[in-house]
Amino acid sequence: MVAAGALISGTGTNLQAILDRIAAGRLDCALRVVISNRAGAPGLARAEADGVPTRVIDHKGFARRDDFDRAVVAGLREAGVELVLLAGFDRLLTAVFLEAFPLRIMNIHPALLPAFKGLDAQRQALAYGVKLAGATVHFVDEHTDHGPIIVQGAVAIAPGDGEDEVRQRILEVEHEIYPLAIQLFAEGRLAVEGRRVVVRGPRPPRPAPLVYW
Ligand code: GRF
Repeated sequence: MVAAGALISGTGTNLQAILDRIAAGRLDCALRVVISNRAGAPGLARAEADGVPTRVIDHKGFARRDDFDRAVVAGLREAGVELVLLAGFDRLLTAVFLEAFPLRIMNIHPALLPAFKGLDAQRQALAYGVKLAGATVHFVDEHTDHGPIIVQGAVAIAPGDGEDEVRQRILEVEHEIYPLAIQLFAEGRLAVEGRRVVVRGPRPPRPAPLVYW
């Protein structure tokens, strides 16, 4: 069982997927706290509905980014968090945060990294004309959307798909792969070797190539 804390800024559908998996007894994770930097984030109500303690730590109350990070780290430590889950958290982390939880911070990004880092990844992918898109769960390092990749999931983009459809299809993948990555961590199966995350133990069968045009 891993003690986790989630950081959110908004809707919190990934948080909901994690809460649902925990409630179903399919994720060996105790969510100890959910912290938002935005007071009205809808994800806060999702956590409260499941009895998970929440806190708002507004970044605007801090003159320096690392002072904000110190406050968030303190909140996570008070809650006994071992693993930090960024779930739609819209602040970049400073070294203060990374050093407090080395290889203990996960993020989910709505693209097949290293393609389409940064904001609006789904729109970037559509504009680029890719046929396959997807999502990535990775450990966080000092660069944005860059750390060692834990799990990826791919979806096809059909001609005529709009941004909303692509966003939704990728979200469905996100909701599968984030709980999976956490479960692998909880089982102690993730070994980081440089950029590569090696998953120990039984692996899924290799899927057929996903070909689309
Ligand atoms: C997701 O697309 C995630 O990949 C990105 O931010 C979005 C958060 O969505 N990092 P939600 O708040 O979990 O619905």
